Amino acid sequence: MRLLRHARLATMHGPEPWGWVDRGALLVDGDRLHWVGAEADLPAAIAALPAVRRITDEIDLHGALVTPGLVDCHTHLVYGGDRAAEFELRLQGASYEAIARAGGGIRSTVAATRAASDDALFEAAAARARALMAEGVTTLEIKSGYGLSEAHEARCLAVARRIGRELPLTVRTTSLGAHALPPEFEGRADDYIDAVCAWLPGQQAAGLVDAVDAFCEGIGFSPVQTERVFAAARALGLPVKLHAEQLSNLEGAALAARHRALSCDHLEHLSAAGIAAMRGAGTVAVLLPGAYYFLRDSTLPPVAALREAGVPIALATDHNPGSSPAHSLLLMLSMACTLFRLTPEEAFAGITRNGARALGLPDRGTLAAGQRADLVVWDAEHPRELAYRFGHNPCRRVHAGGVERDR
Ligand code: NIG
Ligand code: FE
Repeated sequence: MRLLRHARLATMHGPEPWGWVDRGALLVDGDRLHWVGAEADLPAAIAALPAVRRITDEIDLHGALVTPGLVDCHTHLVYGGDRAAEFELRLQGASYEAIARAGGGIRSTVAATRAASDDALFEAAAARARALMAEGVTTLEIKSGYGLSEAHEARCLAVARRIGRELPLTVRTTSLGAHALPPEFEGRADDYIDAVCAWLPGQQAAGLVDAVDAFCEGIGFSPVQTERVFAAARALGLPVKLHAEQLSNLEGAALAARHRALSCDHLEHLSAAGIAAMRGAGTVAVLLPGAYYFLRDSTLPPVAALREAGVPIALATDHNPGSSPAHSLLLMLSMACTLFRLTPEEAFAGITRNGARALGLPDRGTLAAGQRADLVVWDAEHPRELAYRFGHNPCRRVHAGGVERDR
């Protein structure tokens, strides 16, 4: 068993703001936290250890800040090519929607993804994952959605799984076949949705999918089409989540809540009815300040109303080539405070406790006995500093599943 002592702990657990423990310690047993508390209570905790469990390793953190490992609960990490030229077009006045309707946007990334080898997709996605890991990300969601055929979607999900096998972090995969209409189905969106529903059982049988997502939007799929995907997912026992009310309000959030969605994501145009439905279903609101910033959006998500309703709020990078080519979850933390007016504590809960909840992973996102031993040691005294400085990475050490990794 490993003892980490003389730490400032932001456990994100319990009634104290930040779950704060001023002079704290942690006992790590294998991949789990065995005990977390004040150093004054450590002798009693050690005395209570079973005789066979000894402390084999002790680390003095000299007062450094320790938090849960970070959770990036919404990314599209696996894709080919980039959309830097599209960025230039948008800066000259072309809208994201107009580019998508003209066959650019997601479709251009689909072409580049289909043309890329498995290894090229893996190497590019692994590099992006390593950038996120350098800031303390220990759990990462990766969506498909740039393959848009049975074979290419399976390939992208397999690449995502390979990231989780070959890199020291947890990867959760989400099947997003209903991301955009591939060119070969032009004018036949309902037929494409049939195909998406038909390939889910095979993805599940191959162990490729943990959840199912869709893009419910004018340039994506209608609520009726989204509902068909959700029904197919739930028939297989797969949880759902939704890209909802990003560019307009189609009442996608309420639809997702009816299917007990883990999360609804984006939400700039979320209605009061959507908020009420999400509260009733325990659905997490995942806010994506990177996409808001990069698309130069001006409609803010209804943060005050979400807070008032007690809907849990998470944050993520939404890393993707079109609307959020972001490589920093800490930057999202800062942007959520400055742009969306979250408090630093709310924002930090969004990349720990509530990020885990958005993935249906109750065993992480806080530092408490029994939780997975995913933790970050920071060159900081208080976690509010992580939201305060931007373009700065104070991540010093990372333990993922109880094993210290090379950040
Ligand atoms: O989360 N909204 C849909 N999907 C992505 C963007 C996809 C793209 O533009 O490539 C998002 O913003
Ligand atoms: Fe997204």
